[in-house]
Amino acid sequence: MADKKFEKNLLCIGAGYVGGPTMAMIAHKCPQYKVTVVDVVKEKIDAWKTDDLPIYEPGLLELVKSAREKNLFFSTDIDKGIKESDIIFISVNTPTKTFGEGAGKSADLQYWEKTARDILRASESDKIIVERSTLPVKTAIAMERILSLNDKGLNFEVVSNPEFLAEGTAIKDLENPDRVLIGSKETESGIKARNEIVEIYANWIHREHLITSNLMSSELSKLVANSFLAQRISSINSISALCEKVDADVEEVANAIGKDTRIGDKFLNASIGFGGSCFKKDILNLVYLCETFGLYEVADYWESVVKINEYQNSRFVNIMNKAMFNTIANKRIALFGFAFKANTSDTRETAALYVTQKLMKERAKVVISDPKALKNAKKDLQSYGSDIEYEEDPYKAAKDSHAIAVMTEWDVYKNLDYEKIYSEMEKPAFIFDGRNILDHQNLFKIGFEVYPIGKTPLAHFKEA
Ligand code: UDX
Ligand code: ADP
Repeated sequence: MADKKFEKNLLCIGAGYVGGPTMAMIAHKCPQYKVTVVDVVKEKIDAWKTDDLPIYEPGLLELVKSAREKNLFFSTDIDKGIKESDIIFISVNTPTKTFGEGAGKSADLQYWEKTARDILRASESDKIIVERSTLPVKTAIAMERILSLNDKGLNFEVVSNPEFLAEGTAIKDLENPDRVLIGSKETESGIKARNEIVEIYANWIHREHLITSNLMSSELSKLVANSFLAQRISSINSISALCEKVDADVEEVANAIGKDTRIGDKFLNASIGFGGSCFKKDILNLVYLCETFGLYEVADYWESVVKINEYQNSRFVNIMNKAMFNTIANKRIALFGFAFKANTSDTRETAALYVTQKLMKERAKVVISDPKALKNAKKDLQSYGSDIEYEEDPYKAAKDSHAIAVMTEWDVYKNLDYEKIYSEMEKPAFIFDGRNILDHQNLFKIGFEVYPIGKTPLAHFKEA
């Protein structure tokens, strides 16, 4: 039975990077609602109840603490949560399928479908189901079809509310979003359900930022938004390769084009390549969707965004290899950062993983440093056992190394004492700045061989 002390009982299934922060913000902003977050992984739920949260996100702990045990609860009792809820947000993971039809492209919906069946089994009253994970278009309809197969006479209205929060800035994005998108079927009950979700967000977000649409538009917008963002990165990364050939500076080019308000200056930082759980997965979902409808040219167009990303990853390692005299076997190489971007512990699809694997293939001695992501790095790379070293202190990581490669744009790497680092490295000492965050001229003056992205290298001697 729903808890009558509260105006509404909200449940979120999936206590990960999306579910946790989203529900913490709703609980914080809406003390009149009871918010429960459930997950199948007990350790995760246990961690949400402590000060050592299962994910690192700036501002998240304070937010969770402000509501925990007042109107924000974490539990593994999924059935009880379902029974007590009026509205269920679903944010279980939807990785890319690794087997069968659509392998490598379409989303693996097994967790999603299991959730639908859990809801069907445990529900005793009508509910609004909010699809919050990124999903292929038409999932909401499929969900509704499964849920309508109930013999309990219950009504489930499925609404799409894609998340647009970026890790590292999730709290800011949730508090002050550019927009919140809520899609539903355009039937009377569909519109009523989506209006209920609008009212939740209207507790703290101005109504002009609350957009409604039909179900398909909402689902598709999420894929398209991420594909467009990723496309910008691949565009500038493709130009970075050209800049290196013609002595142009990719930052100067980005700055010049970004001043055109039609282009805009965001998401134009050339890098080792985009990572994260969303971009590649969403593009591949889009590609799969296009192929399903025979739109092969459109599919190829979007797939090229992923291909350029892979090209950028491999280009980076090739540059390292070539600069270091085509032999990196037995050379100690310190990777500064392993997270897919700064201010997160998340390592999903991180370019650093690819770089590490390539370096290990070349038999380099890799030491990985990161302020927040070492735990995940160790998990990702467990098959290498003790062949890879993990060292949080960047000075210790760099000591006796032949090269440093910046993988993640953590602020901490910008202000290290590079004179000290240089003095303790093997010579020639290389820095490969995969994020263009360091002061390259200064490093060159110190004595480093400096290899930025999309700029002419600053080398004391020329490669053979
Ligand atoms: C992204 C979207 O931004 C967000 O709206 C969506 O909800 C989820 O996917 P996220 O993956 O958390 O968010 O991070 P984002 O800031 O978009 O960065 C993605 C990747 O692109 C990172 O690896 C980042 O380092 C890289 N990046 C970003 C660049 O290489 N250059 C840039 O200019 C911007
Ligand atoms: P995201 O970045 O999309 O939030 P995460 O992997 O961080 O992805 O979080 C998804 C969470 O969903 C995980 O903690 C996982 O254990 C949980 N989960 C997956 N399937 C189920 C399920 N059927 N019931 C409850 N939780 C689930």
